[in-house]
Formats: sequence, C-alpha cells, structure tokens
Amino acid sequence: MRKAKVLMDRDFVIGQTDPRLFGAFVEHLGRCVYGGIYEPGHKTADEKGFRKDVLDLVKELGPTIMRYPGGNFVSGYNWEDGVGPVDQRPARLDLAWFTTEPNTFGTNEFMDWCKVAGVEPMMAVNLGTRGGDAARNLVEYCNHPGGTYWSDLRRAHGWEKPHGVKFWCLGNEMDGPWQMEYKTAAAYGAVAREAAKMMRWVDPTIELAACGSSARNMPTFGHWEDTVIEHTFDHAEYISLHTYLNNYKQDTAAFLAAPDLMDRFIDEVVAIADSVAAKRRSTKRMMLSFDEWNVWYRTRRKRADRVKEGWPVAPPILEEIYTMEDALAFGGACISLLNHADRIKSACIAQLVNVIAPIMTETGGPAWRQTIFFPFAHVSRLGRGKVLRAQVESETYDSAYYDPRGTDEQTFPVSNVPYLKLAAVAGESGGLSLFLLNRDLSQEIDISLEARSFGRLAVGEALELRHDDLQATNTKDAAERVKPAPLQGVSVEGGQIRARLKPASWNVIHLSAN
Ligand code: AHR
Repeated sequence: MRKAKVLMDRDFVIGQTDPRLFGAFVEHLGRCVYGGIYEPGHKTADEKGFRKDVLDLVKELGPTIMRYPGGNFVSGYNWEDGVGPVDQRPARLDLAWFTTEPNTFGTNEFMDWCKVAGVEPMMAVNLGTRGGDAARNLVEYCNHPGGTYWSDLRRAHGWEKPHGVKFWCLGNEMDGPWQMEYKTAAAYGAVAREAAKMMRWVDPTIELAACGSSARNMPTFGHWEDTVIEHTFDHAEYISLHTYLNNYKQDTAAFLAAPDLMDRFIDEVVAIADSVAAKRRSTKRMMLSFDEWNVWYRTRRKRADRVKEGWPVAPPILEEIYTMEDALAFGGACISLLNHADRIKSACIAQLVNVIAPIMTETGGPAWRQTIFFPFAHVSRLGRGKVLRAQVESETYDSAYYDPRGTDEQTFPVSNVPYLKLAAVAGESGGLSLFLLNRDLSQEIDISLEARSFGRLAVGEALELRHDDLQATNTKDAAERVKPAPLQGVSVEGGQIRARLKPASWNVIHLSAN
C-alpha cells in the first residue's frame, strides 16, 4: 500500500471558483441538439420539444453555462437561418460535419432551453465564413431592447425581452486547418479585435473570449497565443483553451498522467498572457476560458466515426462510449481545472448529450448517465468555494503520453506524476470538499491529511467511483454498471483526516463544519 500526506490551511487560497467553471457545450453536431436536448414527439418532450428526461439529467449534472452553437459548426453558420418562423427556415449543408442542418432549432429555442435548464447561455459567433458585421448584428438581435432592425426582428419573432447574453466567444478553433476559413494568428487577431470592438459598442456589458490554440500540440501553439493576445488585449477578457485526452496507446498510466499536461498547458497560456501584459506595463490579467475539454479519441480519427455519407440530418456521430478509466482521466482534468481557479474563469465540458457526452439518449427511447457524468456532477455540486493550495506528498511515476497531431506521431514526457492527484475546496458554510484521484492501478493509497484553521469538521459525504474492470461502461441496458458507492472508513479527528483510496479510483470527501 502507498502512503500520501497532505497539508492545507483554510487561509492558503489559490482562488475562488467562478460559477462558470462548471460549464458544458451544445453544438449542432450529430444528435446533440436533435435527438438530444430537442426531440419533439418524444414521450417526455414538453410543448417546446425539449426532452424532460434529458433536462432532469442536466439538472443533476449541474452545468452552469452552456456554449452554443459550435464548435466547428459555428464557422459556417448563418445565425439568421435559425430564427423566425420554423417552416420558413432553410435547410443547409453543414461543411463541418457533412450533414444537413434543418435549422428547426436556433438561437431563440436555445435561449428558451437555457431558461428551463437553469443555465447561462454562452454564444459563439462565426469568424470563419463571416465576420464582425454578422457578429454585431447577432448581439443586437439578442441583447438590444428594441427600436432597431435586428432587435425588432427578435420581438417580431416572439421574444419581446432581450436575451441578455453576457459571454461571447470570438469564433472557434481558428488556428485549425479543419476549420472553415481558418486563419493565421495575425489575420485572426485582427478580425477578432474588430468584431469585439463592434460587438461591445452594441452592448458594453458583454464579455469576450478570443480563440487560443485548439490543442497544446498544435505547431502554432505559443506563437498563436502571443499574437492573438497582442491584438485583442484591450478588447477581450478571456483567451480560450481546448484539450481532448486520449488513450490511443492503451497505456492507462500515461492516460491518467495526461491531466498534468493540462496543468502545464494552463500555466503556459497564463505565462504568455502575462508577458503580453508586462510588455504594456498593464495590470490587466487576461483570464482563461477552457471552453472545450473532455476525453475523446475512439470516434476521432476514422472518418467513418465522424462522417456518415449522404448528408443526413443529425446522424449518430462522435458517440463515444466512456469507460471507467475514462472517468478517472476525466476526474483528473476536473482537478486540474479547480486547481487553476485563480485564472480559469470559465470551462465547458464538450459536449452535453450524445456527442462525446456525459448524457446519452436513444432517439425515441431513454436517457442515461455515462461514466464521466459522475466526477462532473461531484465537482459542480461540491466544488464551489475557495480552492486551497494543498501540499501533497505522494510517491510519483514517470510516463510518456502519446498525443498525435494529424498523422504526426508525438509523445510528451510526463515526469514526477504523483499517484495522488487532489483538489481541496473550502465552501462558504465552513466545510471542506476533497476530490482525490488514485492513479495507482494496483495499490491502495493510505492518506493522512491535515486541514488547518477549519475548526471541527465531520464527514458529511464520502463517495468512490471505481470498477474492477477499467473498461466497464454504462449502456442503455446496463445503465448503472458504473456508479458511485460510499467510500468506507473515512475518519476525522481534530484537523486530521484519514482515508484509504482503492487502486484506480475517483473519490470525493465532503466534510461539514461542526
Ligand atoms: O467538440 C467537438 C469538436 O472538437 C468541436 O466542434 C471543435 O471545436 C473541436 O475540434
């Protein structure tokens, strides 16, 4: 058995979690919208066609903000196609996913869905095939009260009150050749700056996120951030990051080490953003929006998994079935995000339903939770508050993580990976939440944790997520094969917390103030 020691103090704080750290993403992609959140005729659908079984699971999952409508899709999207009388909306070819987009669901339907789901909308604008003009018109359509062409059009469409969308993404993955009209960093920086200026002139209260690199392994990473932030520093509040973890090589230890590369990615983007600020002697700090993150690899490389020929509407693509080990890597990513709460002010798991998602549905049938559902629900429910700078003494291992870019073979060394990865969050009510990943595949970890300055703590909740078979999945017919169970044997005495974590397990301990 391994041993780990952890020390923390309620006053040693990394940062306060922003509610937007627990976001998700709905793209017009596969069955995320159609057959996912929206399925008129489904037996649970409400009068607007929103699936209530999905809404119930969304509420349990606990996302706070929802990015929409893409993703790659947004770079060819004419937002005007998705508003107005449904029977007059055009069907279009979508060149991101080679499907037919019926446009029966659009901006206003999304805003209505967000209200029912209790989430804040996050809108992305098309800076691929379109630009600042379409973007500023969309802000006017969504946010201007009335008395102008676009705002009155919204009212004529039946939405009298403005939607008041605060958070806007300036395009999507504009560094990627797969994107419609991708750009050099300088070209994108100029377009993003001009779009941002006009959008904010329409509504000065909005917040804007410029596109960072679509992955750390992009050849332009670093230079891209530097150039884009130079262009947008005075006009945007956030720079975005995207990461999809993989286990292509079936090397579970390396897969579970990969979230530590996310930590490195975040630190690097912070360093670049702050170097741009330093050159200007500016006290402004660009914050980070990690607006796509998840595990994704099984349905990524082969065209047949991404494209169904014949331009179908809402085909089942990117329907990754998540395993127990995926939930562990995913949990590690949750910990990485929490531990950067000082700079990551928003993050979106990609995506919400069916498409690389925590929630799966059968069109016309039931909905269920994938394995990755649980770590997300845990951190959203129990991970709000002040993230503490915990000192972790744990044995480590060395690893090499394979992260290919296109056809280029790329492997990144990850050294000194602590078997225990942990985040600690002090809640408003005086309690403490611990999120703990045991990355050792065969040994338990005996943990002794000292929590200073907390007063008396008592175990409120202790859960573990594990399975003897790391390849176990939840399916329609075995929807609860992988699910959390009580974590036995957690004790608290004075400020000392003791627990034993099973090999390859995700654990949550919530201590309430006594
Ligand atoms: O989330 C799936 C896709 O991954 C998104 O459309 C794109 O932005 C990213 O490459």
